[in-house]
Amino acid sequence: MSDRVSVLIGAQWGDEGKGRVVDVLAKDADVVVRFQGGANAGHTVVVEGKKHVFHILPSGMLYPGKTCVIGNGLVVDPEQLRNEMEELDPKPEAIGVKLLISYSAHIVMPYHKKLDALAEHARSASGAGPIGTTGRGIGPCYVDKYSRIGIRAEDLVSPKVLEKKLRANVEEKNQILEKIYGAPKLDFNELYELATRWGEFMAPYLGDSTLEIDGAVTSGKSVLFEGAQGTLLDVDHGTYPFVTSSSCVSGGASIGGALGPGRFSRVIGVVKAYCTRVGEGPFPTEDRGVMGDRLRENGAEFGATTGRPRRCGWLDLVALNYAVKVNGIDSIALTKLDVLSGIGNLKVCDAYEINGKKYAAFPNSATIIENARPLYREMPAWDADISGCRRFEDLPEEARGYVRFIEDSASVKVSLIGVGPDREDTILRGF
Ligand code: GDP
Ligand code: IMO
Ligand code: MG
Repeated sequence: MSDRVSVLIGAQWGDEGKGRVVDVLAKDADVVVRFQGGANAGHTVVVEGKKHVFHILPSGMLYPGKTCVIGNGLVVDPEQLRNEMEELDPKPEAIGVKLLISYSAHIVMPYHKKLDALAEHARSASGAGPIGTTGRGIGPCYVDKYSRIGIRAEDLVSPKVLEKKLRANVEEKNQILEKIYGAPKLDFNELYELATRWGEFMAPYLGDSTLEIDGAVTSGKSVLFEGAQGTLLDVDHGTYPFVTSSSCVSGGASIGGALGPGRFSRVIGVVKAYCTRVGEGPFPTEDRGVMGDRLRENGAEFGATTGRPRRCGWLDLVALNYAVKVNGIDSIALTKLDVLSGIGNLKVCDAYEINGKKYAAFPNSATIIENARPLYREMPAWDADISGCRRFEDLPEEARGYVRFIEDSASVKVSLIGVGPDREDTILRGF
């Protein structure tokens, strides 16, 4: 199968290690495209011990000569973008990296973050309970996009359009802030000036990502689409309402990256060797005891965006099989296998029991999944440090068995194994 046009997505609840896998695969890609989400993402790449965390920028920004695209499906926080560009080392211009930001990407305004915080607070105070958002204004910005009042990147460089749209937004938001939340009003002039400054900074990068991506694919270049969040945080296919506000599944790449479905060659699902989740919502294999703490400690499971401790638990094959189907995953990149070394009694969940009934398939129903109790299978464990292994054959037999068990359960090949956070800590088995 051609591997020219790949989509890489998270197969769990985010933080599977997408950034580090994109970094490995970007070596052979000409173009790397982010297609959804915003600065709620935190994608970590470690190169020779140096850590880089990408929130908005594609994780291919560290390789010389690449084109990196922020697609139309994103909600871009220009403040965050500027910080990230400033912190980036090496600088894109020094290594010939071209950044292109779609004209049609939406802009996260300060009022989106304010509304995100206020809505969370209101949900906490009411019976609904919070979602545990990252507070990055993601939900409110996508609401404006779908209400057709959102401010797009191109508007930042069209003063008249910006003024008209921003005025209407400020009027609307002030009603909401004042009447629903009793919060202070927004100042139009202040926001207009801020947005104009953002436009000046972003202008050199703005362009038509649809043409760029079509041109790259048509001319036979290798294009890698980088997903953010994960399948179970997808607005349609995740554990709604405890999800993010975008399409994190592979299909999202077609919409947010502007390429027809038939033009993709393969789908890579990034899977952590166990499970984690940040924020609220169902997590059947969560371990709130000693084992959860051990996984968090061994795996350094603290959010790359908010620093929150991640909830931890065993690998959930029921959820993984669902992700394989929803995304059409044809290879798995399995990360953090090293974290399981010496962990003790190793388990995987291969079915749920829900209200006295056994489920082998993931039920995409908020009310059903809420009551899922995991059924576990014990797995042979290993103690050896595997972080130095570079070939599959170097792994202890039990670790190989764990990988093969995942392959058999998901009917998908594990093509890459992460045995440490660094670019080099990777076992490649051929995609
Ligand atoms: P993403 O959001 O999917 O890109 O994942 P994050 O960057 O939020 O979280 C993954 C974390 O695990 C980061 O701290 C990575 O450096 C780290 N990591 C990724 N792969 C491996 C691995 O194979 N082993 C270990 N020990 N750490 C890894
Ligand atoms: P990456 O790309 C893990 C979670 C939040 C919250 C829910 C909604 O690094 O895997 P939002 O701010 O998007 O409205 O929050 O989604 N969430 C993530 N969890 N990794 C992420 O991104 C996430 N992005 C959002 O914790 O539960
Ligand atoms: Mg992350």
